[in-house]
Amino acid sequence: MKGAHLAVEKICHTYRRGRQQALSDIDLEVKPGEALALVGRSGCGKSTLLHIMSGLLAPTSGKVFIDGARVEAPSPRWVVMFQQPSLYPWMTVAQNVALGLRFTGRANEIASRVPEMLKLVELSDYANRNVQDLSGGQQQRVALARSLAPSPEILFLDEPFSALDAFTRGSLQRDVRRIAKDLGITLVLVTHDLPEAVTMVERAVVLAANPGRISEIVPIDLENRDDLRTPEYAKARSRLAAAYENAAGRGLRPTAEPAPTLRSIGDRQTQTSAVPAAR
Ligand SMILES: Nc1ncnc2c1ncn2[C@@H]1O[C@H](COP(=O)(O)OP(=O)(O)OP(=O)(O)O)[C@@H](O)[C@H]1O
Ligand SMILES: [Mg+2]
Repeated sequence: MKGAHLAVEKICHTYRRGRQQALSDIDLEVKPGEALALVGRSGCGKSTLLHIMSGLLAPTSGKVFIDGARVEAPSPRWVVMFQQPSLYPWMTVAQNVALGLRFTGRANEIASRVPEMLKLVELSDYANRNVQDLSGGQQQRVALARSLAPSPEILFLDEPFSALDAFTRGSLQRDVRRIAKDLGITLVLVTHDLPEAVTMVERAVVLAANPGRISEIVPIDLENRDDLRTPEYAKARSRLAAAYENAAGRGLRPTAEPAPTLRSIGDRQTQTSAVPAAR
């Protein structure tokens, strides 16, 4: 596997029934193998942008390129994972993991790929179990194995862990990052959970709402992502929280009122309700 390059050029989008533009003038590049997050308050256009990037939604204007080729439809070269694992309850774990290969005409690879993917997500002992008997976190691991089986070059994740408890979420965040890095896959993660972004990505694109637009791109340069108690981790998290609050404030505030500066927010000790609680 190898990661693909992603380029987003001048994307604007207005939904047919939308009262306002959902996205305005988005330009963005993701390097092969990079992990990038789209963060911002509810309704700022994160999912819309992810759907456009992955070819699930045609933008009103602008273009998306993956490795230089225009994206106009979904492809087995990239996969999208959502909050719900969407498994087939009447199939076993192994049968669910095999689906991506079956649908892309690679059934001959099932015998070798499925055990390999189950090992990667640490579910080898569950191959013949019914997915209904698994916990939410285990089901999300099955969905991850299914997504990885066809060797995608980009993994798009739309709040995939938000339904899970904090412990399970934390371990999946670390596992997905490790697997993506080991396999060289490009990762695009939608989240409003700032610690999740800090744990998982090298750059966070902070979006402001109404219309959805890039407010700031925050680099997250961390040596150690496993220890959440380091001063570097705390610094990265508060830097991202300041950018988030700045963007959220701009979306909420009437235009006559100037947006607060980054410095004034960064100096504040408490967070407003617009910012998700830090772990
Ligand atoms: N199918 C649709 N028709 C009309 N408007 C839509 C549609 N889907 C989304 N919108 C609007 O577009 C804007 C962006 O929505 P989007 O779902 O991309 O936000 P989001 O950042 O993913 O939010 P959340 O964090 O709640 O998932 C919102 O104002 C939303 O109401
Ligand atoms: Mg969304």
